[in-house]
Amino acid sequence: MANSSLRSEPVVEVRALVESDLAAATRVMQRAFGTFLGAPDPDRFMTDRNYVRSRWRADPSAALTAVVDGKVVGSNLVTAWGSVGFFGPLTVAPEWWNRGVASRLLEPTLALFTAWKTAHTGLYTFPHSPRHVGLYQKFGFSPRFLTAVMSRPVDGHDDAKAPDLAASVGSSEGSGVLEQCRTLTHAIHDGLDLEREIRAVATQQLGETVLVWDGDRLAAFAVCHLGADTEAGAGGCYVKFGAARPGPGVSDRFDRLLDACVGLARTRGLSRVDAGISLAREEAYRAMRRAGFRTEIQGVCMHRPNEPAYHRPGVYAIDDWR
Ligand SMILES: CC(C)(COP(=O)(O)OP(=O)(O)OC[C@H]1O[C@@H](n2cnc3c(N)ncnc32)[C@H](O)[C@@H]1OP(=O)(O)O)[C@@H](O)C(=O)NCCC(=O)NCCS
Repeated sequence: MANSSLRSEPVVEVRALVESDLAAATRVMQRAFGTFLGAPDPDRFMTDRNYVRSRWRADPSAALTAVVDGKVVGSNLVTAWGSVGFFGPLTVAPEWWNRGVASRLLEPTLALFTAWKTAHTGLYTFPHSPRHVGLYQKFGFSPRFLTAVMSRPVDGHDDAKAPDLAASVGSSEGSGVLEQCRTLTHAIHDGLDLEREIRAVATQQLGETVLVWDGDRLAAFAVCHLGADTEAGAGGCYVKFGAARPGPGVSDRFDRLLDACVGLARTRGLSRVDAGISLAREEAYRAMRRAGFRTEIQGVCMHRPNEPAYHRPGVYAIDDWR
């Protein structure tokens, strides 16, 4: 006799995300965020931004999907910046919410961090959502400071100059720059390394890496996504990561970096610079306010272990781990 309690639950398979999953995973991501944030048409939410494809291309072995009957119902993209790792966007199709899919995706996510020996891990999420904060607490992450995702309009009044840009990372000049960027980030936090992002913007033509020099010594750099079909979105220059060399004069170097990012946006005809910063980096946050940035949205970064890493006063770095 038919009995609904004997009907088998659909099997959720979690596996590596492959190229043929990208379109479906992107649609799930748009619909998940669009639904959560109450967009009028969740299927058309964030369609000018690309997170899944570019992060998958940067490291296909660090992209995960959840599949039911061959259909993508969720995904998560994992990133390693040397000794620091974070993940996202983690998204699940709304009809699958609260059925353990995100938790299933988080198990192999943490296994990747273990395999990579990532010393400090984290994520960016919605501080007002008990579900989000509770989900990540279950996996050992602790909420810390707010992260402000800021924006500064760029218009005809800006006279910021076109900045110096990193040459191809495959060239000898490019590899010298990579080394200088690594030296700079290591001085901020042991093992922090942005090579993955610098390579991704160059090889996938997502944007540029802006360089600010003190003679032949790197003073600051910023990895920027530019325009539609990148993490910036139409009209935007998004600073995915930026940092000034620590030590005396760091605030001046940071101001020059912000100016260089505005110069890049202006010379590429973009209308704004978007950049996120942990409010724990209080001096750098204030410098951004002085430079005309205003907060558009606020998230919270959750850390595992519950330590500041480079989210602390005195660090002049831009990133938001979205
Ligand atoms: C956030 C999202 C990924 C969660 O996916 P999901 O598959 O529904 O999550 P799960 O069912 O695995 O986990 C739910 C967990 O949330 C936690 N949770 C839910 N409500 C909670 C509450 N009120 N208080 C505390 N914890 C809560 C619990 O830990 C629960 O796990 P448990 O049932 O084992 O205790 C999904 O809702 C989504 O895609 N949202 C839109 C996009 C998004 O916001 N992504 C995350 C960006 S950081």
